[in-house]
Amino acid sequence: MKGLFITFEGNDGSGKSSALQTVKQELLELGYDVIYTREPGGSPIAEKIREVILDKENVGMDPKTEALLYAASRREHIVKTILPALEAGKVILCDRFLDSSLAYQGYSRDLGLENVLEMNQFATEGLYPDLTILVCTRPEIGMSRIKKDERDMDRLELEKMTFHNKVYDGYIALSEKFKDRIVVINGEQTKEQVLSDVKNVLYPFIKERI
Ligand code: TYD
Repeated sequence: MKGLFITFEGNDGSGKSSALQTVKQELLELGYDVIYTREPGGSPIAEKIREVILDKENVGMDPKTEALLYAASRREHIVKTILPALEAGKVILCDRFLDSSLAYQGYSRDLGLENVLEMNQFATEGLYPDLTILVCTRPEIGMSRIKKDERDMDRLELEKMTFHNKVYDGYIALSEKFKDRIVVINGEQTKEQVLSDVKNVLYPFIKERI
């Protein structure tokens, strides 16, 4: 594959998405062939599955159903968006991917990391990101940022603090397991510092390879 597949991960309110939007804009201005995409979603059918997953009315969704829906939307996303972009030599900046399923469904929903990894293997056929930037912010800080924004919370965000704490611990465990691929950034700093740390990791990585 000619392109680069870079994912951004983090617990809710970690600050990953705002850093991601800024670097996307800068990289485009620098002339890189960048595409931004996200999960769940990132292609027409995957976006429809997203609506079902995040719908606040779908309380009580079975955890395995939830994990399968994320994997189904991931499969569509890979086939329709990610693989064609990699073939075309683009730099893909993706907001969430497989690690989200491992942290949220594997750890926090207690389905087990290995089970969720194995189930996703059917969807991903072994596709991993070239680099994953994990923005870590303790859940009490992340959730208070979301509440301050006064926007509507989706079904996952409405979960209790114990759920968010387990997501956070899951991400820390993943950063150990996938040391070669995951770089951890401290999301508790100012927006500017987070952005600067993200750039210090991301830009040399891209320059070396493209
Ligand atoms: P989104 O609004 O995209 O969240 P964010 O802005 O935090 O990235 O909502 C996605 C939610 O779905 C988020 O709470 C994380 C969760 N999620 C999973 O539980 N498993 C997954 O595989 C993915 C991709 C997301």
